[in-house]
Amino acid sequence: MNILVIGTGGREHALALAASKSPQVDTVFCAPGNPGMAQFGTLVDLKSSDIKGLADFAQNNGVDLIIVGPEDALAAGVADEFAKRSLAVFGPTKGAAQVESSKDFAKSLMKKYGIPTADYQTFHDAESAKAYVEEKGVPIVIKENGLKAGKGVTVCVDDVQEALDAIDIAFSIPGNSVIIEEYLEGFEFSLIALVNGDLVVPLECAQDHKAVFDGDKGPNTGGMGSYSPVRKITPELVNTAMETIMVPMAKALKAEGVPFTGFLYGGLMVTADGIKTIEFNARFGDPEAEVILPRLESDFVQALLDVMNGVKPELKWTSKTSHGVVLASTGYPASSTKGVEIRGLDDVNGDVYHMGTKLQDGKLVTNGGRVLMVVNLADTLEEAMKATYDDVAKIEKNDLFCRSDIGKKDLDGYGKK
Ligand code: AMP
Ligand code: GLY
Repeated sequence: MNILVIGTGGREHALALAASKSPQVDTVFCAPGNPGMAQFGTLVDLKSSDIKGLADFAQNNGVDLIIVGPEDALAAGVADEFAKRSLAVFGPTKGAAQVESSKDFAKSLMKKYGIPTADYQTFHDAESAKAYVEEKGVPIVIKENGLKAGKGVTVCVDDVQEALDAIDIAFSIPGNSVIIEEYLEGFEFSLIALVNGDLVVPLECAQDHKAVFDGDKGPNTGGMGSYSPVRKITPELVNTAMETIMVPMAKALKAEGVPFTGFLYGGLMVTADGIKTIEFNARFGDPEAEVILPRLESDFVQALLDVMNGVKPELKWTSKTSHGVVLASTGYPASSTKGVEIRGLDDVNGDVYHMGTKLQDGKLVTNGGRVLMVVNLADTLEEAMKATYDDVAKIEKNDLFCRSDIGKKDLDGYGKK
C-alpha cells in the first residue's frame, strides 16, 4: 500500500512513522512533511491547504489511504474532496470537523445531547461579554471561536482584568465571537479514539501540558510535552469517558447528519463532579501522537482500515511508558524565531520528532514555535523522564527552551517526587 500523510509537524511525523512500520506499506508520502519524516518517507512538495493538488497527487500516485494531520485542512474540506474522488481518507468531512472548528457548534451539541461540559454562554460583542465577566467574577475561562492552534483560550484564575483584556483582544478581530465558560478544576487528560460513525475505539490516554512554563504557568501553547499512559486514568475512568462523552458525541454527529470518520480527540477533565469535556478536536493531538503511537505494537494502518470498514480492530499496546518534551523557540507562544541552527541531536538516544524544522544550506534550523520533541520509552515513567531529560540536556539551547516538569504531576500523585 501507499499512504499519504498530510501535514508538517510532530504529529504528522508520528503518524507517518507509525504507518511506515506496517508490513503492508510500501511508501509513505508526506505532504509537505519535514526533514525528520524524510528519513523514512517520501516528501511531496504540496501544502495542506492545496486540496486540489493533494487529491490530484493521490490519484496519480496510487495512494491507497490518506491520513490527515492538521485541523485547518479538515475544516477547509480536504476529506470532502478526497471522498468526492473515491479516495480512502481517514479524517472527518468539513461538517464533522466543526466539532473543533466551531466551539459554538461543539458546545451546543454537547448541551443538546447531555454530554458533560463546563457551563457557557456565547457573546458576539465585547460590551455584553465584559458585563457577564464582571457579574461572574473569577475564576473564568474566555475562548475565542474558531481554530487558534491551542492559543485562543485564556484561563483567568484570579485576575478579572486578564479576562477583560482577552475579550478586547478577541473582538479586535472583526466578526469574532467568544465563549465564556465556567472554570473546571481537576486532572486533565487526552482521550483519542478511532471513529467511524458510531464505532468508537479508544486509544491509550496521554496527558498534555498546555501552559508554556513549569507549574502550568504562563499562556497556553499548542502543548509543551506529554506522556502515556496516565496512571491516574484507570480503565474505569476511560470506560466512563467513553460511555458519557466519546460515544455520545460520535452518535450526536451522526444524528445531526455529519457522521465523523477519523481521530476524535476528547480533551477531558476529571472533576469532583465527574468527567467533563474541555474540548473536542477533529484530529490527533500534538504532542499526544508522539507519545501514544510509539506504544502501539499492532499494525496502525490495519487498525485504520478496520475502523473504516466498520470493524473493531485488535489493538496491542506495550505496557512501557513514553515521555516526551517539546523544545520551542525563544518567545513562543507570542512569537518565534526561524533559521537558527539546531545542534546536539547526534548524541540523543530517544526519538526526535520534528515539529518546526527545515534544512537550510545542509543544516537543520528552527522554523517555527514548537521545534522538536524528544521522546523516550521505558519500563516506568520515572525512567522515561530521566532518559528524555538526559537527552534534552545534550541539545544546544541558545534559541530553544523547554519545560522541566513534564510528567511531574503524575509522579506527585504517586508520592515519588
Ligand atoms: P482548549 O483549547 O479548549 O483545550 O483549552 C486549552 C487549555 O485551557 C485546556 O487544555 C485546559 O488546560 C484549559 N481550559 C480550557 N477550558 C477550561 C475550563 N473550562 N476550565 C479550566 N481550564 C480550562
Ligand atoms: N495537544 C493539544 C492539541 O493537539 O490540541
